[in-house]
Amino acid sequence: MKTNCEVKLSQLRQTDLRPAALILGRAMRDNPVHVRAFAISDAERRRRALEWFFRPVLLGLHQRGLIYGAYRDNALVGICGIARPGFCQPAPLEKLSVLPAIVRGNPLGAALRVLNWTAAWAHRDPAGPHWHLGPVAIEPSVQRQGIGSALLTAFCVHMNACGAVAYLETDRQANVHFYQKFGFVVVAEANVLGVPNWFMSRPGGHPRKGLYAQAPLSQ
Ligand SMILES: CC(C)(COP(=O)(O)OP(=O)(O)OC[C@H]1O[C@@H](n2cnc3c(N)ncnc32)[C@H](O)[C@@H]1OP(=O)(O)O)[C@@H](O)C(=O)NCCC(=O)NCCS
Repeated sequence: MKTNCEVKLSQLRQTDLRPAALILGRAMRDNPVHVRAFAISDAERRRRALEWFFRPVLLGLHQRGLIYGAYRDNALVGICGIARPGFCQPAPLEKLSVLPAIVRGNPLGAALRVLNWTAAWAHRDPAGPHWHLGPVAIEPSVQRQGIGSALLTAFCVHMNACGAVAYLETDRQANVHFYQKFGFVVVAEANVLGVPNWFMSRPGGHPRKGLYAQAPLSQ
């Protein structure tokens, strides 16, 4: 799918999982929950810790859902992960696979804080079927150029086609406004690790006949 901001959207190639983790590390390095959870004051070390954390997370999500990639000149510049209904929580083995990444080289207590943060989010997951959006991140040097909006538009086309409810969490007020543009509304607010978090939902509707329901973007 071509967009008006000169990016091509497609499903993330397996070989792009590492570049995707790199983007997540760079883009999410200063997100308040990550700063609190990892408690690493050096920004470059925190970026690296996040990159390692997101590698197994993305691998799991690749199996439990969909990951859209935004490509500019054939280079990955943004990603948008979505877990399928019924699969928004990682299986126990998948959780175990993340543990080494949060223990190795990180301050004492980081693993516990990451577990507390993810448990606080999981605790608020809607009971009903929903597509769970996240992580969403754009390479910092090309943010605010419409790439995130292009990914969210593709995501919304998919949700509208299925008539599905979507749900997400975010720890930045600016992101709340971003997601509101795509029909998400705040359904709860809570402090997680002492920082404000917003929980947002996008209502479902009637599935639109004739539109794809499972694989919205080309492989
Ligand atoms: C949030 C994010 C995915 C948006 O992608 P993007 O390509 O930058 O967004 P777009 O250019 O399509 O749209 C930008 C709109 O989002 C909002 N927005 C996003 N980030 C913003 C920020 N830091 N400050 C203010 N507004 C912001 C604004 O409404 C903005 O519209 P405007 O540029 O017309 O004012 C991207 O900025 C990002 O990767 N942020 C860091 C990681 C993160 O927080 N991800 C979301 C986790 S829930």
